[in-house]
Amino acid sequence: MAQKSALINVMTGAVMKVSRRLARDFGEINNLQVSMKGPADFVSTADTTAEKKLVEELQTARPNYGFLLEEKGEIKGKDTHNRWIIDPLDGTTNFLHGLPHFAISVALERDGEIVAGVIYDPAKDELFSAEKGQGAFMNGRRLRVSSRRNMEESLFATGIPFKGRTGHKTFLREAEAVMAVSAGIRRFGAASLDLAYVAAGRYDGFWETGLKPWDIAAGIILVREAGGFVTEIDGKRNMLESGSILAANDQIHTELGRILKKAGKTPA
Ligand code: IPD
Ligand code: CA
Ligand code: CA
Repeated sequence: MAQKSALINVMTGAVMKVSRRLARDFGEINNLQVSMKGPADFVSTADTTAEKKLVEELQTARPNYGFLLEEKGEIKGKDTHNRWIIDPLDGTTNFLHGLPHFAISVALERDGEIVAGVIYDPAKDELFSAEKGQGAFMNGRRLRVSSRRNMEESLFATGIPFKGRTGHKTFLREAEAVMAVSAGIRRFGAASLDLAYVAAGRYDGFWETGLKPWDIAAGIILVREAGGFVTEIDGKRNMLESGSILAANDQIHTELGRILKKAGKTPA
């Protein structure tokens, strides 16, 4: 049965409103590819406009809550218990290149714990949502992490570090170890959707480092509410602080964690 809580309605309402504009802007990208200036400035305007609109919508519904925003940073609220964590456009590089795989991600953190998350992919019209203790859903359908138990049947998502990021060598060792024992690795370019896809059982696991709280906050609760496990790669639980994440069903989480930890150690 689909969720109907007031909180999820507020989050979904804000996200869906903003997504219409973002989808329109995405439609413009292909025209802009050929312009002299290129689409980069246009995308950064689309991004900041979406964030501003999300803040307005959520502030109307919950005037005292604080914010942690990718673009504008932290906005303290009168209510110090509740904070929205927002990525207005996750998958910016895809968006910029006209690749239809990006999302809006909104989470609610209450007293340091993520209690609700909504992720919307406008190009595929897929709305993922979860609230603590209420399960995870996509377009009203209940989600469950995959039940695969073997690495050789499992498909993984990851993020490949790029220019300006650290960990290139470690990543190559990790990828080598995982590709040798699994059905494959994908790099789709939007961490929020990578986690949503683990929740939906499309991927059997996901790992990445160097992430920010807004990339993963909503996805973490989605995976947990779909019955999965989320930790840092080394098994600790400070994903929002460290930016390291490993998400999967229980069996694969243990096995993938073991493989990644071994691969991550600098060779002698
Ligand atoms: C990025 C995406 C990508 C991940 C990067 C993030 P952005 O977010 O989630 O998948 O690999 O680390 O920065 O910049 O598109 O919002
Ligand atoms: Ca992001
Ligand atoms: Ca972003």
